[in-house]
Amino acid sequence: MNIALFGPPGAGKGTQAKELSKKYSIPHISTGDILRANVRDGTELGLKAKQYMDKGELVPDEVLIGLIRNRLTGSDCETGYLLDGYPRTIPQADALTDILKEISKPLDAVINIEVSDDELVKRLSGRRSCACGESYHVMFNPPEKDGICNACGADLYQRDDDKEEVIRQRLAVYNEKTKPLINYYDDAGILVNIDGTGVVDAVFADICKVMNQFK
Ligand code: AP5
Ligand code: MG
Ligand code: ZN
Repeated sequence: MNIALFGPPGAGKGTQAKELSKKYSIPHISTGDILRANVRDGTELGLKAKQYMDKGELVPDEVLIGLIRNRLTGSDCETGYLLDGYPRTIPQADALTDILKEISKPLDAVINIEVSDDELVKRLSGRRSCACGESYHVMFNPPEKDGICNACGADLYQRDDDKEEVIRQRLAVYNEKTKPLINYYDDAGILVNIDGTGVVDAVFADICKVMNQFK
């Protein structure tokens, strides 16, 4: 099953992808998580990416295209993949089409999670993240123990880009550079829109209905 989760920052891509990846046994490929891991490890890629991420800007296309090519050719993608946060520009989408053609794994669906801007700001400003990839919300999805990850027991933190002014910038960048991909994939006949405003479990059920068609 070859799926991309699409949607603005805070739509719930990461939250849903974690569970979908377990249910369908396909790797969750989050470019944001890969970049943050590089920032934490202080790699050359991380140092470069951080300058853009902290401002709410996109990391340059050539960096992301190289990264995603490496990741998709990994052996764990044999049975499929679940993309989260890639592609985010038309050049990234074009490059993805080429890579997927080379490895004969074209996308089955691009699932677009729709949430209003006001709700996105609320979600992002209350988000608490874990280095393991889990994320929580102080009100909508609190961890069992305050400030501690349910999954791994580590301390939760607030992402540097989850500050109000950076959130606004990320939404502006989404509208300008990423949103045009909705038409791009609609034209390709593989776009599916999902209402992302319900509770986490309701959104999950709706996404599963789509993914079950490709099992
Ligand atoms: P990335 O990490 O991908 O961030 P993003 O797209 O801004 O998305 P988020 O992770 O903020 O949101 P999400 O949809 O995963 O929401 P979540 O599930 O956490 O990218 C970060 C940066 O890296 C970019 O700005 C860029 O610089 C760089 N980058 C990454 N990929 C790139 C690319 N391809 N090209 C160039 N640069 C790239 O949920 C959010 C909150 O809401 C949580 O608190 C959660 O608990 C809560 N929540 C989730 N679902 C619900 C629900 N149904 N109801 C109530 N609350 C909910
Ligand atoms: Mg995410
Ligand atoms: Zn954790």
